[in-house]
Amino acid sequence: MCGIIGYAGKENAAPHLLHGIQRLEYRGYDSVGMATLNNQKLTVLKDVGTVSEVDKKLHFTTLPGTLGIAHTRWATHGGVTKTNAHPHLSCDKKIAIVHNGIIENYKELTEKLNGHLFISETDSEVIAHYFEEKLKSKTMKEACIAFMKDIDGTFAILVIKHDENNMYALRRDSPLVLGVSQEHVIASDLYTFSDKTKKAVFFENDEFAIISKEKYQFYDRTGKEVKKKVHEFIWEQEESKQQQYEHFMMKEIMEQPAVVKRLLLSLKTDQKDNFEKLLKLIKESHKIVFVASGTSYHATLLGAYYLHQCEIEAQTLIASEFEHFASIEEDTLVIALSQSGETMDVIDALKYAKSKKAKIVAVVNVPYSTVQRMSDLSINILAGQEVCVAATKSFVNQVTLLLSIAQHFGFDVSLDELPEKIISVFKRAPLIEKIAKELAPTRDIYVLGRGLSYPVAREIALKIKEISYIHAEGMMGGELKHGTIALIEEGTPVISLVCNHDQAMLSNVKEVEARGAKAIIIGTEIGDIVVPTNHDGTFGILATVVGQLLTYYIAKEKGLPIDKPRNLAKSVTVR
Ligand code: M6R
Repeated sequence: MCGIIGYAGKENAAPHLLHGIQRLEYRGYDSVGMATLNNQKLTVLKDVGTVSEVDKKLHFTTLPGTLGIAHTRWATHGGVTKTNAHPHLSCDKKIAIVHNGIIENYKELTEKLNGHLFISETDSEVIAHYFEEKLKSKTMKEACIAFMKDIDGTFAILVIKHDENNMYALRRDSPLVLGVSQEHVIASDLYTFSDKTKKAVFFENDEFAIISKEKYQFYDRTGKEVKKKVHEFIWEQEESKQQQYEHFMMKEIMEQPAVVKRLLLSLKTDQKDNFEKLLKLIKESHKIVFVASGTSYHATLLGAYYLHQCEIEAQTLIASEFEHFASIEEDTLVIALSQSGETMDVIDALKYAKSKKAKIVAVVNVPYSTVQRMSDLSINILAGQEVCVAATKSFVNQVTLLLSIAQHFGFDVSLDELPEKIISVFKRAPLIEKIAKELAPTRDIYVLGRGLSYPVAREIALKIKEISYIHAEGMMGGELKHGTIALIEEGTPVISLVCNHDQAMLSNVKEVEARGAKAIIIGTEIGDIVVPTNHDGTFGILATVVGQLLTYYIAKEKGLPIDKPRNLAKSVTVR
């Protein structure tokens, strides 16, 4: 995962890098570091902690020089230590690198780099030593060409060296984009510099670039110059400050009515053409296969359910298992859902789908992301920047889009009232907070659903796990008696999603109550928390909002780092 940024301009690099790394922090927050070049000397500051913690200690903006690189880490190889933090240096300290991705053959390369002193446990350090070695006999451009041949794995890399005012940027499979203005910023995503410039050049796989404050030049893996298009991008953002909210998670939950409205309007206006093209593609395809990870996968489960109700053949697969289970033909339409558009598992699944010649539709929140650029057609869910690691408003807008699609194929749902209904759920917040406080000390929570509420049960359980650190299982009510019910003890909380007096679900509630469970019902007419709908379609979204609030209040009660839960990162760009 990790976020990387480089700056080449007329001003001091450090304040720009600090600003950028703060905007990139959602990609990883184990440790952070920066290197700048001044008077032919590279200086590195790095440590374990969040950007603001490390900056308070090390004062990044004291670093001199107009060329620099920075990194925010989500550990893959090697623990969370200062030594493992990036940037990494060559033995002679004349080369500094930052890296996002995984160098798969780092062990083999390390063995070949005899005589080099490796001080970290990372796969990334080998990059600095590799360039140091190659520069004994090659120019830096030649070394980049050799690197493209010699390295197995994924990478977005920035390299600076003591005797040049150039930065070298190399990319394979990990995101990298150049922001163009009076100065040049290279970063893992557009958001890093979207408040400074709206012009960007995207790196394709196996390209590298040489960038200085005055110019940039792109090359393919053989060193042949590549002419690149400068894209003018539009960046529709929610205010990315927390404003009056204590946490981004609550801010993003509260934005849901507004972002639903915005998406529904755009499907009738600026995205109307693409939306109609999507409906046509669905009609013409033999079958629909959704693909996604995590929360986005839960949205696709709902999508498959809705289309199935409309008698359209649809299935969904978790991206990391796509190749093992998908049967894709030329007339299959693959619809990928991804908030970030950078999830490596989704990208891999799409490569596979492309190899089978399937048509690809991307449903993303981050415009110009890799998933969007790989697709034949794309729809933006317009949820705006989502900062909290837990997906909330992006899920609700993914589901709103899927409901809009199903509505066109005859699924009976009224979406115009959805924003108001979400607001009505917010009014239940004091009750939800009370229940959350009771749940906070618990070790396990089970969440049960059937049909359309099964994906919602999984989504609520995922939120509880990642934000409130309670083991939670979201499962099919019908599966409970096939094993899991053995875990129900006196007082075990079981949350059941009961839409329209669903008798089978009510039987499941009775079954767990008979074994001493503390049953909590989120329902439409009856229940501990009643949501204002009697409609199957909107129940899923409203019950999810209850689950989001419940999770938030449990985590708050436990004093947990709600926006940046341990071990996670917003965008999962490794396999
Ligand atoms: O950006 P994507 O939608 O592709 O991300 C997929 C998952 O990594 C993501 O939904 C993850 O599960 C979240 N932490 C859930 O809150």
